[in-house]
Amino acid sequence: MTNSNLLPVPEQEPLFLLDDLWKSRFDGKNRVNVLEGVSASVEAGRIVTVVGPSGSGKSTLMLLLNRLEEPDSGRITYLGRDLREWNVLDLRRQVGMVFQQPVMLSGSVRENVLYGPRLVGEERDSDPEALLGRVGLDPSLADRDARELSGGQQQRVALARVLANYPAVLLLDEPTSALDENASRMIEELVVGLQREKGLTCIWVTHDLSQALRLDGETWVFDSGRLVESGSTMEVLSQPRHPAAREYLKSRLERGEAR
Ligand SMILES: Nc1ncnc2c1ncn2[C@@H]1O[C@H](COP(=O)(O)OP(=O)(O)OP(=O)(O)O)[C@@H](O)[C@H]1O
Ligand SMILES: [Mg+2]
Repeated sequence: MTNSNLLPVPEQEPLFLLDDLWKSRFDGKNRVNVLEGVSASVEAGRIVTVVGPSGSGKSTLMLLLNRLEEPDSGRITYLGRDLREWNVLDLRRQVGMVFQQPVMLSGSVRENVLYGPRLVGEERDSDPEALLGRVGLDPSLADRDARELSGGQQQRVALARVLANYPAVLLLDEPTSALDENASRMIEELVVGLQREKGLTCIWVTHDLSQALRLDGETWVFDSGRLVESGSTMEVLSQPRHPAAREYLKSRLERGEAR
């Protein structure tokens, strides 16, 4: 894969600005806040790992960043423009998302990987087999029915499908949750390589603190819809200041989830 047409991003301004985001959902009985006053910024070329207890709002935030959902109030800008002003297809080509539960389109793995390039008539420039190789899949899988693959294989096809669009930003929601250690590390190395070589920006939700340490960027800790702590991964994981962040990290460390 040549990532030569990765979109250039001005380095001086934050790529994403999140300004006081609030989001509520109906839980069957009441409306409850799932994001409460989240403000943050993401510099171009950074890897941000997002951690926090189950249900703390991590996936919800990712959906907002890709404009799959709207905040109730607050604003997100990407490259200085409100997300609501972006053509949503342009935005999603630049900001690619791998969902927590990968969704395979009907058809072959090749058709899945070529989905984005086909939309913009760039199918001939794509090499689906090479992309499968880059995410650690055997290129011979290209002709298989995508929906018959294992969960871990589908996760990697979903990543290959996103990479086929040469995104400037990757939103990865627990992309290695179904992978073994070797396959997970390969994905980590792929993303870090793209960051170093192409200036890729990545927001990566994970429950694996060792993974966050290996990715060695920034870390955001969520608790009950609030962003309670952010900073360099090493700093946040070794010296969390907020009690909720301390509690969460301690519980993960006790489970042996990080060095
Ligand atoms: N489609 C939905 N309808 C109603 N409530 C939802 C929906 N999706 C998520 N929620 C609720 O919103 C809150 C935040 O969920 P979210 O999926 O963002 O958490 P998360 O941090 O990603 O959790 P996990 O680590 O388990 O993936 C939770 O209380 C969840 O039950
Ligand atoms: Mg989630």
